[in-house]
Amino acid sequence: MATKVLMVCLGNICRSPLAEGILRSKVNTDEVIVESAGTSNYHIGDAPDQRSIDIAKQNNIDISYLKGRQFIPSDFDEFDYIYVMDNHNYTDVTNQARKFEDRDKVRLILNEVFPGENVDVPDPYYGGPQGFINVFDMLNEACEAIAKKL
Ligand code: 4NP
Repeated sequence: MATKVLMVCLGNICRSPLAEGILRSKVNTDEVIVESAGTSNYHIGDAPDQRSIDIAKQNNIDISYLKGRQFIPSDFDEFDYIYVMDNHNYTDVTNQARKFEDRDKVRLILNEVFPGENVDVPDPYYGGPQGFINVFDMLNEACEAIAKKL
């Protein structure tokens, strides 16, 4: 059976769609299914932020077709690993855990690069294009580590 990975941020339009596209580009998609979601309901049904679409495209990854959706508790049943982008997302997701096994699936994505340091992927939404370049590079490194482990 395929391994299922969910990427989670606040809006599901900047960081987690990028993480979804990047990890998908590094795995065998018959064996690993990657999706993303937001903890908020702000951008349900919306395409990714144009700046995320652009930085992905510059790296030969198409995320333009993705649509925002909100995290729901049944995602704990659906997915094997849930990677969150920052500590706030971690709290929001683990607060919805129904049992220990749910909580145990949730990891801060940059702990794959800096184990135990609990570093955030900064929210690039209110900043300029350099923020999206930085986020892409961080997620690329983290997804490389995840892809190797899966
Ligand atoms: P994301 O960024 O969590 O990386 O998708 C955000 C996108 C939208 C908002 C906040 C963060 N917002 O407040 O609408």
